[in-house]
Amino acid sequence: MDGIGTREAGLRKVSSHSSISEADDFDLSRLLDKPRLNIERQRSFEERSVSEFSISNTRGVDGSDSIYSPGAAVRSGFDTPASSTRHSFELHPMVADAWEALRRSLVYFRDQPVGTIAAYDHAAEEVLNYDQVFVRDFVPSALAFLMNGEPDIVKNFLLKTLHLQGWEKRIDRFKLGEGAMPASFKVLHDPVRKMDTLIADFGESAIGRVAPVDSGFWWIILLRAYTKSTGDLSLAETPECQKGMRLILTLCLSAGFDTFPTLLCADGCSMIDRRMGIYGYPIEIQALFFMALRSALVLLKHDEEGKEFVERIVKRLHALSYHMRSYFWLDFRQLNDIYRYKTEEYSHTAVNKFNVIPDSIPDWVFELMPTRGGYFVGNVSPARMDFRWFALGNCVAILSSLATPEQSMAIMDLIEARWEELVGEMPLKISYPAIEGHEWRIVTGCDPKNTRWSYHNGGSWPVLLWLLTAACIKTGRPQIARRAIELIESRLQKDGWPEYYDGKLGRYIGKQARKFQTWSIAGYLVAKMMLEDPSHLGMISLEEDKLMKPLIKRSASWTCMGPERT
Ligand code: GLC
Repeated sequence: MDGIGTREAGLRKVSSHSSISEADDFDLSRLLDKPRLNIERQRSFEERSVSEFSISNTRGVDGSDSIYSPGAAVRSGFDTPASSTRHSFELHPMVADAWEALRRSLVYFRDQPVGTIAAYDHAAEEVLNYDQVFVRDFVPSALAFLMNGEPDIVKNFLLKTLHLQGWEKRIDRFKLGEGAMPASFKVLHDPVRKMDTLIADFGESAIGRVAPVDSGFWWIILLRAYTKSTGDLSLAETPECQKGMRLILTLCLSAGFDTFPTLLCADGCSMIDRRMGIYGYPIEIQALFFMALRSALVLLKHDEEGKEFVERIVKRLHALSYHMRSYFWLDFRQLNDIYRYKTEEYSHTAVNKFNVIPDSIPDWVFELMPTRGGYFVGNVSPARMDFRWFALGNCVAILSSLATPEQSMAIMDLIEARWEELVGEMPLKISYPAIEGHEWRIVTGCDPKNTRWSYHNGGSWPVLLWLLTAACIKTGRPQIARRAIELIESRLQKDGWPEYYDGKLGRYIGKQARKFQTWSIAGYLVAKMMLEDPSHLGMISLEEDKLMKPLIKRSASWTCMGPERT
């Protein structure tokens, strides 16, 4: 029950810095082509971080004169990534171009870089809100900057969005929860008055008026990445950041009518921000929720106010991992079990707890499911299992260790076995398969942007490359990431860094895809940097808590495959 709490909390007491830098380290050497070199670099970096931590402590939390000079690295060397000058790894010609494009997308507030614009596409007829800084879109940009030794922009972003969280948020006459983080924000420059002002969107301007549930989770995850990468715990420990975390957690840990530990959501509240039948308990949100809870656990202070949250997080994590690993997991055995389910079972002895009617299993699942491999399905709620594959949720499940090591391996097995379906010619399918015909009409509300195999409906999103690469490194399968990167390198730059691709194989630039989509650019850079130096993975990955035992009994096909794996 209190495995996570005591372990991480215990470490925290001994040394707050070591908890974040070491608690979730693990043996990466098995994955590396050049293991010694990279590991050593990371070690010395972490040692340096320790001394920076003590220095920044004496300087005060706002860190106005931090070790890295703000703006300097960002504004200088437009075409020279620090990583290429510091490390002499083999540079693909695309890398320099990507850095240039990424820096072009920087957004400044009172001369400080505070984020990156979603897309720098002057040719697009309609800007819509692609000229804004999206919280979720900024994550790969932030990781690229952190990996390149430029943490200041990330700090500025974290503080700016924290400030926005404090705004009063309203839709019509309804006031939103205090902890809500914006989906996006924009800086308005007034050249006459020489004034910069901010506008933010918490869902009140968004198409469909949906609040971005993922924003707060990404914010916490990014705060941990920043802390882990810089060793600077002083930012996370400011009363403002602690309060920001508590407010986000208040929104999702409050008791209500729920019978499940999963978080109930409206459709379109994550990366897939339009109606796509992902309301209820979508894997995309549950995996991020889990990762944010684990991140908050290492960042929250165990003071009067923090303690209560720590206890609630620990309880929720246990319930959530049990629920997800048991009921969202699907592999050959589990599919066969569901196929043979009895229905209308009442009472505690029910095997088919959610009363899933076997007839509702779509035909394609039987074809997709390899003998070896598995994944977390899209959604589970009463009499409704959404069997679709969602890439982000599954990758985040691996990175957060929501998936057990065996489940993580099985997910990678599935990707390998079903490469054509899930990766095709352009990594990576956001979801699989597409919904069409009558189902498309009902589920999307006839959305012309989400026609079959386009955009969110089975489209291919290059940004997902960084998540795949991180998952590959974590599971010791870097060759899968290399294969995906090769595909990206054959087209992405030539095509002008599109937002997404269409078609069953992802061969066509998306119907309404923006060009120079920042997260397509940053995602590529992050994937490259992680493969070059897998020690970067620690920023965005959490090791399994050994005490959080997998409790799934049925359908443990992965245990059979263990010995076969080399
Ligand atoms: C689209 C995507 C969303 C993204 C936004 C900005 O709406 O669905 O996930 O944040 O564009 O790029």
